[in-house]
Amino acid sequence: MVEAFAVASGKGGTGKTTSTLALGMALSDDHDVTVVDADTGMANLLFHTGLDDATVTLHDLLIEGTATDVSEATYERFGLSVVPCGTSLAGFAAADPGRLRDVVAELAADTDVLLLDSPAALGSKSAVLPIVLADRTVIVVEPTIPALSDGLKVQEYARSYGTETAGVLLNKVREPAAAVADQAGRHFGGPVLATVPDSDVVRAARRAGEPLLAHAPDSEPAARFREAAARLAVRDGDGDAVAARFKSAVVPDTP
Ligand SMILES: Nc1ncnc2c1ncn2[C@@H]1O[C@H](COP(=O)(O)OP(=O)(O)OP(=O)(O)O)[C@@H](O)[C@H]1O
Ligand SMILES: [Mg+2]
Repeated sequence: MVEAFAVASGKGGTGKTTSTLALGMALSDDHDVTVVDADTGMANLLFHTGLDDATVTLHDLLIEGTATDVSEATYERFGLSVVPCGTSLAGFAAADPGRLRDVVAELAADTDVLLLDSPAALGSKSAVLPIVLADRTVIVVEPTIPALSDGLKVQEYARSYGTETAGVLLNKVREPAAAVADQAGRHFGGPVLATVPDSDVVRAARRAGEPLLAHAPDSEPAARFREAAARLAVRDGDGDAVAARFKSAVVPDTP
């Protein structure tokens, strides 16, 4: 059983990495979950999982001619299989984004749920590939109309590659956002998965190098992320068929 989700947004800093790990931990109660830092240019999932000093990362898997096995870049943390990405510019420059297809295909054969922490914006091959590969996209936006507009662009792009919208996560919400949630509910092809408050506990989790659900499992934002995960209703899929689809995916040059 496998389904791949891209966790994406229009703008940077909306909470994609935070959400990837929170959804992943919530889903790991019932599924084998693998999270991948597919933001290969501006990787930061490693800082949220205490993997700052990981020696082998996704970059090593994406560099042609390296014999590194996927398992060497996979770390068991917080009940998840975590594939972090390195932060060096040299690693990014040497990485071939097209090889991400083979990496996710290999991971798909061995997990229930794949969550791809995706880059902000849609400016390059490496930025759009996670959205192209995924079955569904979770769109993480702050609750403003301009942010929704950016999120809709991501949805439109994803749909052009057959990737559906799993839903919208409204994050960093400071005041009642009923009007924005209503707009989001009407314009996106999936439900509002949750409204997550802006909270110091989320920032504290990052500073501690832990996912929110490990750092503050009883907090309000953690409860909202669990609610969002329950609404995803992960679908059954044939792992081998998904892997074959990943391998043969067309990699767009530019959006
Ligand atoms: N609900 C929240 N309340 C308060 N702070 C939050 C919340 N969600 C995320 N943050 C904080 O916002 C910052 C950015 O979050 P995160 O790294 O998850 O965003 P991102 O979308 O992955 O960013 P990037 O586009 O740079 O990859 C982090 O410091 C994180 O702790
Ligand atoms: Mg991020």
